Parts: sequence; structure tokens; C-alpha cells
Amino acid sequence: MIIIITGTPGTGKTTVSRLISRELNCTHIDVSALVEEMKWGEPDPTGRETLVLTNIEELIQYVGKINKNRECVIVDTHYPGIFDSLAKDIMAVFVLRTHPKIIARRLIERKWGAKKIAENAEAELLGVIENEALRRFKCVISIDTTNKNASEVSQSIKTLIEQMHQTACPVQGRTIDWINDESAVDAVLNIEKGQS
Ligand SMILES: Nc1ncnc2c1ncn2[C@@H]1O[C@H](COP(=O)(O)OP(=O)(O)O)[C@@H](O)[C@H]1O
Ligand SMILES: [Mg+2]
Repeated sequence: MIIIITGTPGTGKTTVSRLISRELNCTHIDVSALVEEMKWGEPDPTGRETLVLTNIEELIQYVGKINKNRECVIVDTHYPGIFDSLAKDIMAVFVLRTHPKIIARRLIERKWGAKKIAENAEAELLGVIENEALRRFKCVISIDTTNKNASEVSQSIKTLIEQMHQTACPVQGRTIDWINDESAVDAVLNIEKGQS
């Protein structure tokens, strides 16, 4: 069984995946860390401060192989779409959503560049990763982490996973919409202004 935990960088994927993996005895695959370690990416040729995946096949085989040997695998990634060939083994995709202002604050703490922070705050505002997941997978569950701590988020996900033993996908396709939230739109406009 594979569970994908996805979301814009800074939404808490790695923190929450660690907690859930420990509690449910799953193998945690932090895709960004793995890509870096295995050198499965290269700098973006267009100059964006990001890695472009070069070895998607190897990555998918790696995850598939671990899934054959383990009962439970948590894939922590902001590229959920690349795993669509494993869809039949993917029990659910959890999308962590967080107010763009908080994302920006966390990425500033990581000392990311202003342009990269603005890009990610915009992507969160528009729900880019949630849309990608909804397009490709059957069971997509979004969780607003804004007013929760990591252990509350992990607890919500664990409860939903338990419910899946009775109901295939308990709250399918729930979406979180920042675009109609004035404070989220304002936060992103201010971030954009700050970098120009
Ligand atoms: N509800 C929450 N869920 C997850 N992380 C949270 C939460 N609230 C605060 N945090 C903090 O936000 C940061 C998220 O970082 P990380 O887990 O690396 O995110 P990602 O892997 O999505 O880039 C951590 O410092 C974590 O302690
Ligand atoms: Mg991470």
C-alpha cells in the first residue's frame, strides 16, 4: 500500500510523513532528499531555482520495489503526478494545504530566494498541486493545516486511513480554495510586490 503525502513546499509534508511513518510503521520516502542523494535531478535550464527530475523511471522503480517488500510506504513529494503509473497501489493522496502567508514565512526561514518564495505562494493560492492530484488519482483528500500543529495533521490522516478499511475513500475530492479568501490573495500580492 502506498500513501502519497503531497503539497506545496513548506506545507509540512516531511514533518507529517515522519510522524505517520513512525506511528503506522511505514517506510517514509522523502522524494526531494532521495533525488538529491541519488543525483536524479539537474538544475533547471531556464534558471529557476529548482531541480528538474532526470531519472523518473528509476524513481518509480525504486518506490515500486519498496512497496513490494513493505506493507506500507509513505511517499512525501511535491510531484504527485509522476507516480500515476503506480496508481493501482496508491490507496490515497493527501494534499496538505496551508495559507500562503504561512508558506512564505516558512520558506523565508529556509532562506529561499524571493522569486522562488513568490512562485510557491502563488502555486498554493491557485491549488496547483491539489489540481494535479485530483486530475490523476481517484482518492484525493485535502487537509487545511493552517490552524493545526503537525501532530494534529498526522492524527487526522491516521483517522482517515483507518476509515478507509470500511469506506474506500471517506472524503473524496475535498478542496480548499484560497482564491476566494481575501487575506490569502492579499498575502500573495504583497509577496509579489516585495520581490519587484
Ligand atoms: N500543521 C503542521 N504540519 C506540518 N508542519 C508544521 C505544521 N505547523 C508547523 N509546521 C512546521 O512547518 C515546517 C514544515 O516543514 P517541512 O515538513 O519540511 O515541509 P515540506 O516537507 O512540505 O516542505 C516545519 O518546520 C514544521 O515544524
Ligand atoms: Mg519536505
